[in-house]
Amino acid sequence: MNKKFISLLVVLIVVVAGLYWAFGLPRVGDPEIPASTQAMANGEYLYNAAGCAACHQVDGAEGPVGGYEIESPFGGSFSTPNITPDTETGIGGWSGRDFLLAIKHGRSPTGGFYWPAFPYRSYQGMTDEDVLDIAAYMVTLPPVNSEAPEHELPAWQFSWMMSGWNIMADFLEGELSAVGNDEQVQRGAYLARSFSHCGECHTPRNVLGISNFNNEFAGQEGVASAALTADGLGAYSYEDFVYFLEDGFTANFEQVGGEMLDVIDHTSKLTQEDREALAAFFFRED
Ligand code: HEC
Ligand code: HEC
Repeated sequence: MNKKFISLLVVLIVVVAGLYWAFGLPRVGDPEIPASTQAMANGEYLYNAAGCAACHQVDGAEGPVGGYEIESPFGGSFSTPNITPDTETGIGGWSGRDFLLAIKHGRSPTGGFYWPAFPYRSYQGMTDEDVLDIAAYMVTLPPVNSEAPEHELPAWQFSWMMSGWNIMADFLEGELSAVGNDEQVQRGAYLARSFSHCGECHTPRNVLGISNFNNEFAGQEGVASAALTADGLGAYSYEDFVYFLEDGFTANFEQVGGEMLDVIDHTSKLTQEDREALAAFFFRED
């Protein structure tokens, strides 16, 4: 083999490796979806904790049939899909692997990329067991045959671009701060970050829409400016905050509004213990 050919081959290998890195599917194994009543009950609880219905089941729909519109900061709008187990218009027949790839990695069963309007970058913090429990609950929902509308996005936007976006986000979003060893605070952190996705609306983003975890919960201009930091929550006592998560009354005795009402709708259904864990996380001292 001559040298030119070898260097060409090396370049080719590097390019293919790069593409594989960018487009290859993460290895998640192919675990079974559990079928125990315990798994389903935990899954139902966590499905609520993660606010799945806020985006997939709206306006009194008879199930999570989608059709909820989310405005894109880059023009146009997303429409949520039907996630009932209907085989034609929903996600009927999904395996454990499909659920893990979608919820934790933003990848479709065929290797496509989801838009981060689906908050998979927050959900990636879920344990595989918890994702599979959510799946265990979701596969028991009645299938509803209902075609959700398509996204309406500018022609230059392609979802495969999210391959590069995800890699950039890995590098640019920074590190979530450590939360110490207190079990209650850890539970609160797990719920706030990986389920309730408080940061999707309350953590600042850069021009590409990538979260800045070095400034976690400092408020997001134009979305939810309230900072969930010691300063931002200055008007709340720990008890006020626990009540806020239950009834949506702010420290000024006003009913909170906007999309925060959907959040209260799910935090109000958590156990008191979990609301206290959330408060312990936001009011931690370190
Ligand atoms: C903030 C809104 C939002 C929340 C909350 C949300 N989703 Fe979604 N979800 C979306 C959007 C938007 C899409 C479509 C993404 C795309 O097409 O690229 C989506 C797509 C999906 C898909 C892919 C469906 C398909 O047909 O390929 C599944 C499965 C899914 N979501 C399940 C969930 C589950 C389970 C939860 C809760 C753990 C959840 N979603 C919470 C907005 C949301
Ligand atoms: C879907 C976006 C979204 C998510 C997710 C979200 N918030 Fe909010 N939040 C908002 C918006 C919007 C407001 C401003 C509401 C208003 O206008 O009354 C707000 C306001 C607040 C306030 C200020 C209330 C006051 O005193 O005025 C607090 C505290 C708060 N959110 C806590 C949380 C916590 C804790 C979580 C996670 C459990 C969370 N938010 C998740 C959108 C969100």
